[in-house]
Amino acid sequence: MLELRQEISNNYLKSFSKSVDPENILISPGAKPILYIAISLLSSGGNEVIISNPSFPIYRSIINYCGSKPVFFDLKEQNNFNFIADDIIEKINDKTKLIILNTPCNPTGSVMMRSEQKKLFNFLKNFKNKIYVLSDEIYSKIIFHSNETSLIEQSGLLDNIIVVNGLSKSHSMTGWRIGWGIFPNELIDDAVKYATNIYSCVNNFTQYAAISALRETDEYVENLKKSFEERTILMVKGINLINGFSCIFPKGSFYCYPNIKKTGLTSKELQHELLEKLGIATIDGNNFGLKNDCFIRISCCTSKNNINKALTILKNHFNK
Ligand SMILES: Cc1ncc(COP(=O)(O)O)c(C=O)c1O
Repeated sequence: MLELRQEISNNYLKSFSKSVDPENILISPGAKPILYIAISLLSSGGNEVIISNPSFPIYRSIINYCGSKPVFFDLKEQNNFNFIADDIIEKINDKTKLIILNTPCNPTGSVMMRSEQKKLFNFLKNFKNKIYVLSDEIYSKIIFHSNETSLIEQSGLLDNIIVVNGLSKSHSMTGWRIGWGIFPNELIDDAVKYATNIYSCVNNFTQYAAISALRETDEYVENLKKSFEERTILMVKGINLINGFSCIFPKGSFYCYPNIKKTGLTSKELQHELLEKLGIATIDGNNFGLKNDCFIRISCCTSKNNINKALTILKNHFNK
């Protein structure tokens, strides 16, 4: 619906003073189909796609499925899992077709600073080949101590940027299945064709709900962000009191990614023990990338009461 695409465009103008043509916006049932469409449009045998280690697991699966090669740059714990432009630039070569950035990041909650974005984009501007950047901004409204950021702000390179976002996280509308992609001129027609062949369109009542959400919920979104921040602080402070765990405070999202090496268990063993013995669901870090077996991902997307309950169970188990 043009009305929803227009509303999304108005939001980018309001938040970032950037005008986005509604004709460049593709509506989708959640953000995931946009990831699939973007990666598959830019993949072919021999291409390389740069992603962070750790990162949202489906990037790697789609890249492999589409016949490209995932190339990883590390988000290092000693750097607070920050995105460092030089670490990305180091991985670029003649085969690089796409770089995927997800900030705030699932699973680390780290955020790429504007100065690092600028450094990367200056490099890309002068690089001999055209390299696209897919910016997964699904947690962009959940940045603590700062406003939302978007790669849309990096003007001058809009031709190379695909932005993906949606209402699953910012508005807790995961079950509604509503998201969007902003594609450059040279990709939008193929992306729309692809979408039409996969899912036709998103039903119109969901699109109307999205329009209302975008127009009427600034205060709700702000309160939700505060509440995610409070719950995340509660979790991280508590986790840092558990023997064997140490956790960096995330800058955004609603995840934390503690180092669990000193428990003496691998992340796989710990995930199993927490679930089967203690009834606490976490995710083994190896699901997010290579050699992540000293980390587990914890979601703080639950009530403070549940978080306190989980922390008490962990304390009783590990701090004996
Ligand atoms: C980084 C990232 N991108 C995309 C998605 C998918 O969002 P959606 O539910 O809108 O498809 C998720 C969901 O967990 C995510 O963590």
